[in-house]
Amino acid sequence: MDPVSHEESAERVPSHGVGPWPGGEQAWPPDERYDPELLRDGDRRNVVDRYRYWRHEAIVADLDDRRHPFHVAIENWQHDLNIGSVVRTANAFLAREVHIVGRRRWNRRGAMVTDRYQHVRHHPDASALATWATGAGLPVIGIDNLPGSVPLETYELPRQCVLVFGQESVGLTDEVREVADATLAIAQYGSTRSINAGAAAAIAMHAWVRQHGDIEAGHDL
Ligand SMILES: C[S@@+](CC[C@H](N)C(=O)[O-])C[C@H]1O[C@@H](n2cnc3c(N)ncnc32)[C@H](O)[C@@H]1O
Repeated sequence: MDPVSHEESAERVPSHGVGPWPGGEQAWPPDERYDPELLRDGDRRNVVDRYRYWRHEAIVADLDDRRHPFHVAIENWQHDLNIGSVVRTANAFLAREVHIVGRRRWNRRGAMVTDRYQHVRHHPDASALATWATGAGLPVIGIDNLPGSVPLETYELPRQCVLVFGQESVGLTDEVREVADATLAIAQYGSTRSINAGAAAAIAMHAWVRQHGDIEAGHDL
């Protein structure tokens, strides 16, 4: 039986990565951030080049120094596969934290192990999320194309905020709508009532990046 867990193997993408550090142990960099095991065996994890051979904790610490002041939250009343994809995108766009509202167990498949690099906080319901957001001084911004939603495309997103997404079948619940400071819709032109929740989350996070992100830094990893 392969001792490598499903999650670990998902992080090690065989066709990617680097082999052992060239030149052997004598040539290893003296920096504490490097992981001797990875230097010896190679680094097959799904991480950007600047983090090659780094210890997991060193990567998280470096991300923590650079995280953006927006948070994302997703409702979890069913085991929606999109949650993993939202977590992965939150990692790519460097959201401060991911919040899961509802059931604690969530489907990690689409996350591709990115949740290991992300701070994930659980809330039993929308009112608990709202209480936490108020304490942290963060407006709650619902994302859904519901009656009364305003266009995301022309909305000035606060630098510090929580973007909340609904689930595939049910969408944003009334409870979240009630606590939201605004609810924003993404423009659509076709026949479908909505786009995939993971795709909507990516669009909304990228809207934040376009308004507040350091675009040059995001192209220089
Ligand atoms: C499949 S949609 C759910 C329901 C949708 N309100 C409907 O009437 O069919 C799941 C989630 O994806 C996001 N979403 C999908 N399309 C969107 C759009 N055009 N604008 C904003 N959010 C959207 C929202 O977060 C929503 O809660």
